[in-house]
Amino acid sequence: MSAVVPSVEQVSDPVIHAAGLRKVYGDTVAVGGIDFDVAPGESFGLLGPNGAGKSTTMRMVGAVSTRSDGELSILGLDPDASGPEIRAQLGVVPQQDNLDMELQARENLLVYGRYFGLPRRTIAQRADELLAFAQLEDKAKAKVDDLSGGMKRRLTIARALINDPRILLLDEPTTGLDPQARHILWDRLFRLKEQGTTLVLTTHYMDEAEQLCDRLVVVDKGEIMAEGSPAALIREHSTREVLEVRFGSDRNAEAARRIGAIAGLGGDRIEELPDRVLVYADNGEHALAAVVDSGLEPITSLVRRSSLEDVFLRLTGRSLIE
Ligand SMILES: Nc1ncnc2c1ncn2[C@@H]1O[C@H](COP(=O)(O)OP(=O)(O)OP(=O)(O)O)[C@@H](O)[C@H]1O
Ligand SMILES: [Mg+2]
Repeated sequence: MSAVVPSVEQVSDPVIHAAGLRKVYGDTVAVGGIDFDVAPGESFGLLGPNGAGKSTTMRMVGAVSTRSDGELSILGLDPDASGPEIRAQLGVVPQQDNLDMELQARENLLVYGRYFGLPRRTIAQRADELLAFAQLEDKAKAKVDDLSGGMKRRLTIARALINDPRILLLDEPTTGLDPQARHILWDRLFRLKEQGTTLVLTTHYMDEAEQLCDRLVVVDKGEIMAEGSPAALIREHSTREVLEVRFGSDRNAEAARRIGAIAGLGGDRIEELPDRVLVYADNGEHALAAVVDSGLEPITSLVRRSSLEDVFLRLTGRSLIE
């Protein structure tokens, strides 16, 4: 096969383009007119809390749910006109695993491969490669029902890769998994990213977004609140460090008020949460010294770097995980 050198325009053409993308269910505005583009090879995330409209967006991008309004183009095609052509080039990991519980792990991959009309030998070879990739070689003949949650998730990802998709859509890849299972999954997804697979994922875990996304949009109530790389979002919407101090039940509000009155605290902003007070400051240790000098006695104190959770709190006044 002769290599076709793509033009500059083709190289930079977004694989997903959404403008004013909107979805309503009756009176509910699930997605309120959002704009985003995803470049080839990019790892793009939608970070937001429950009900933000993440799954609704993913279903429209996956060409399984029609949009109510706006522009949407996937790999240059309109899902209203070219659903099957688009779906053939996507890998989809839905929020809920929908594996065939009665079948063995490897059989799940084989059956799915046949949907795409791939030759049996190709499917069998890819199934074995993907079981190895998902670290499930020794579970090839296990019934899906007998796999752990993390294994089921890895099998769903392997299945989504059977057609060698140009874009992999992952709706909350690690929700409900224990920390170890999440780390195994992140490692696998990171490998895909290194291989240049275009990833689009949703999450309400800020650490997941920080680990996996080159760029993300923060979504809340169907709207995009901010967009950028994790580092840029933190730079733009938070301070370098955060001091977390706890004063015990019922005493945080009063402490927050007193901290707010400290002159020369070096703090940018104070957030009072039910169980602790957050002081946003470029130098958390200096802020802590000022708090202690003022006569306040926190039960515990912690200085940490700002995270996407702080960005979300700043933008919405709420915590990502309620
Ligand atoms: N099929 C549907 N019919 C009616 N309303 C729906 C439907 N699907 C979603 N919604 C509503 O649209 C809004 C967005 O839901 P969506 O599932 O997209 O959120 P999400 O960000 O994926 O949330 P979660 O983190 O809980 O998965 C919610 O208010 C939800 O109740
Ligand atoms: Mg969802």
